[in-house]
Amino acid sequence: MSEQQGHVGYIVGGGLKENLQVRLTVPAQQVQEGAFLVTESGDWLFYGLVTDLQLGATDPRFADEQSEGRLPPQVASLLHGQTLYTNLEMLPALMMERGPEPGTPEYEQWVKAIEAGLAEQPRPLPVKTVPPHHANVRLAGPGDIAEIFGKPKEKSNFVIGHTREQGHPVVINLEKFVQRSSGVFGATGTGKSFLTRLILAGLMHHSVASVLVLDMHNEYGLDDTASDTGERVIGLKTKFPAKVRVVGLGAGAQIRGQTPDFNLEIAMGDIQPEDIELLTRELNLRETTPTTLEALVASFGRQGWFKEFRAMKLGGTIETEDGKRVPSPDSVAAWATSTGVNVMAAEGLHSKLGRVFRKEYIVEEPAADTIGEIVKALEGGQHIVLSFGRHETDLDYLLVSNLLTRRIRQVWEERTNDFRSKGEAEPRSLVIVLEEAHKLLNREMAAQTTFSTIARELRKYYVTLLIVDQRPSQIYDEVMSQLGTRISGWLGDDDDIRAVLSGLAGREALRGMLARLQPKEEVLLLGWGVPMPLPVRSRRYDEDFWTELLGKKGKRSAEEVSKELGF
Ligand SMILES: Nc1ncnc2c1ncn2[C@@H]1O[C@H](COP(=O)(O)OP(=O)(O)OP(=O)(O)O)[C@@H](O)[C@H]1O
Ligand SMILES: [Mg+2]
Repeated sequence: MSEQQGHVGYIVGGGLKENLQVRLTVPAQQVQEGAFLVTESGDWLFYGLVTDLQLGATDPRFADEQSEGRLPPQVASLLHGQTLYTNLEMLPALMMERGPEPGTPEYEQWVKAIEAGLAEQPRPLPVKTVPPHHANVRLAGPGDIAEIFGKPKEKSNFVIGHTREQGHPVVINLEKFVQRSSGVFGATGTGKSFLTRLILAGLMHHSVASVLVLDMHNEYGLDDTASDTGERVIGLKTKFPAKVRVVGLGAGAQIRGQTPDFNLEIAMGDIQPEDIELLTRELNLRETTPTTLEALVASFGRQGWFKEFRAMKLGGTIETEDGKRVPSPDSVAAWATSTGVNVMAAEGLHSKLGRVFRKEYIVEEPAADTIGEIVKALEGGQHIVLSFGRHETDLDYLLVSNLLTRRIRQVWEERTNDFRSKGEAEPRSLVIVLEEAHKLLNREMAAQTTFSTIARELRKYYVTLLIVDQRPSQIYDEVMSQLGTRISGWLGDDDDIRAVLSGLAGREALRGMLARLQPKEEVLLLGWGVPMPLPVRSRRYDEDFWTELLGKKGKRSAEEVSKELGF
């Protein structure tokens, strides 16, 4: 078998808890940390990862003394061969039955038993035992990787990168990927946005789910320029013109100098007290806020409170008939006094909400029902990139993302209930992409945003998150622990590393691996959404990628375009 060529050593010790020890029989340069190893032992295959390499000596004296100079070269080399060695540590991850030697009667019997349903179809299982002493260890070949991660050509499988040593393709299964929330992490500049573009292109091309991108920095829809290389970065709209709708926030918004497909305006009636409470830290609101908001809703209703409060004046008095000065009837103070709310608290809130009142994208009557359009597009299998345009502050991001997501989730919840109880059509899977996710999913905010609900509910309502963040430690741990697939680039901060690895087996070994990834375009695939952890070199996002994905160079045929348009 050609895969025997990757033979690198044999098992000399270790165990499940402390990892396996493998004596290297090839120069150490041929095997690196993170390499994917296979051990064959009897009817079983064991799969694992290199987590460490160590120099050893049968006697420390041989290691301490540099004998090359003292002894003739052949003797020195013989002596070294006998006394000095390298061991590698292998983190065992999976095992799989492969059955007796093919061609033997036992093998035939085994295959028959599986076909008859008497024995289980072999599949990779979490490792529960160890291979014996001296079992041979080799580097995984493309076949092993396909066996564990999936075959690149199979439906819904998407090549996310290649193994570092030998460049074998590694796939993620997109169908599985969208069933759980997932995360892309890494320090700034490690390639998170590029990798997210790749994954989104895969989701769109395979039409696995609809995608809503909350694109805080206007990176995903239209073509962009890479900040480091100055090269053009193709936007998703360019390649999927009929499937992707770019939505600009605010009337007349321009995104990278282009007019978006629609503009999003928010109706005053849509803003709920919860949306304001979410801004507590951002606007530095007092603890009296909820009481004031409750009183506003009691006076004007959930639909009317924002508009009415916004219209009230701060200050202003009038003189009554008996010569007393009282707050003018259109003032905050007058309303507060009439409803028994603390005047200072109400005035304070009004003045702090000034930043929200002045948002030009919050209007009384939006020109179009854009939220409705967005929902319709997503349900119809299209994708939405919401570009924040020049509204790039945290306030805009928090307010709009949460409001929009809340509305969308409500619709999906209704559709799911109709599907379950009335047998209506199954809802389309939806993935919401959140850049700078910690702004919406930090410990303080997580309890209040729709996002953490989505992360916790798993796939119940067909909506999952893809969170992209450089500071995973800032994300609420309960959300982190729900993430199935985690894809992480290099991280330097211990807390961030801990957060990405939270709840996973082999944390100790993986920690070092994360810290030693290349600063760019290398990621560790992690989490219970992938069969086992594996470092990969990220696929490049370039013209070749698009050619491989979409099939041919240059322009697509008119036929394809019209197919995409639905004709
Ligand atoms: N898969 C890739 N294909 C091609 N180029 C890449 C890839 N990944 C990273 N790069 C290069 O690295 C640069 C930084 O990548 P990217 O913008 O995705 O980083 P980031 O992790 O999103 O950073 P930030 O946290 O600052 O947003 C890109 O401008 C690009 O030149
Ligand atoms: Mg980025």
